Amino acid sequence: PRPILLTRHGESRDNVRGRIGGDTALSEAGDLYAKKLANFVEKRLKSERTASIWTSTLQRTILTASPIVGFPKIQWRALDEINAGVCDGMTYEEIKKNMPEEYESRKKDKLRYRYPRGESYLDVIQRLEPVIIELERQRAPVVVISHQAVLRALYAYFADRPLKEIPHIEVPLHTIIEIQMGVTGVQEKRYKLMD
Ligand code: G3H
Repeated sequence: PRPILLTRHGESRDNVRGRIGGDTALSEAGDLYAKKLANFVEKRLKSERTASIWTSTLQRTILTASPIVGFPKIQWRALDEINAGVCDGMTYEEIKKNMPEEYESRKKDKLRYRYPRGESYLDVIQRLEPVIIELERQRAPVVVISHQAVLRALYAYFADRPLKEIPHIEVPLHTIIEIQMGVTGVQEKRYKLMD
C-alpha cells in the first residue's frame, strides 16, 4: 500500500481576515506549518524511492510546499480552490449583508449553488476527475497540498462519503489526512501538526 497525504495550505493572510478566495501569501502560523509539514514529509517518505508533491496554482499552496525538498512538485489548476466568482475576496458577513439572496441560496443547497461567475461544489467535483484518475494511477506516494472545498471532494472520493455530505466535511487547517489504499480497503490516519 502506498500513502496519499492530503493537506490544506498553511493559514493564509486572507484566512486570518476571514476573506474567501484571493491569492495571498501565508501568515506566520502558515509559514510555521509549512516547515512542520516539510519535516513530517521528509520522515514519513524517507524510505520511499519516489514520491511527488502536488499543489494548486495559488501562492498559498506553492508556499506551503516550498520547504519540502528532494521531491518533484507539480502544479494543477484543477486543485485550485472553488471559484467564488463575484464573491471572491469577500467575507461571509459581507456576502450576507450585500448579497442576501446569494447567501440564502447557498445555505439552502451548498452542493449545487454556483457563485455568480464562479463555481459550485458539483463543478469542483467534475474538474477533479483527471486528478483522481492520475492519483489512482500513481504507484508512488503523493502529497496533495490544496484547499478546503477541493479536499472535501477528494477526501469524499477516497473515504466513500455521499455526495450530499461533501460541502460539510471537516478538513481542518494544519492537519494531514493520510489515506492508505490496500487490498482490504481504505485506511485513514490524521496528524494534527499544530493548532
Ligand atoms: O474559500 C472557500 C472555502 O475554503 C470553502 O468553504 O465552501 O464552506 O464556503 P465553504
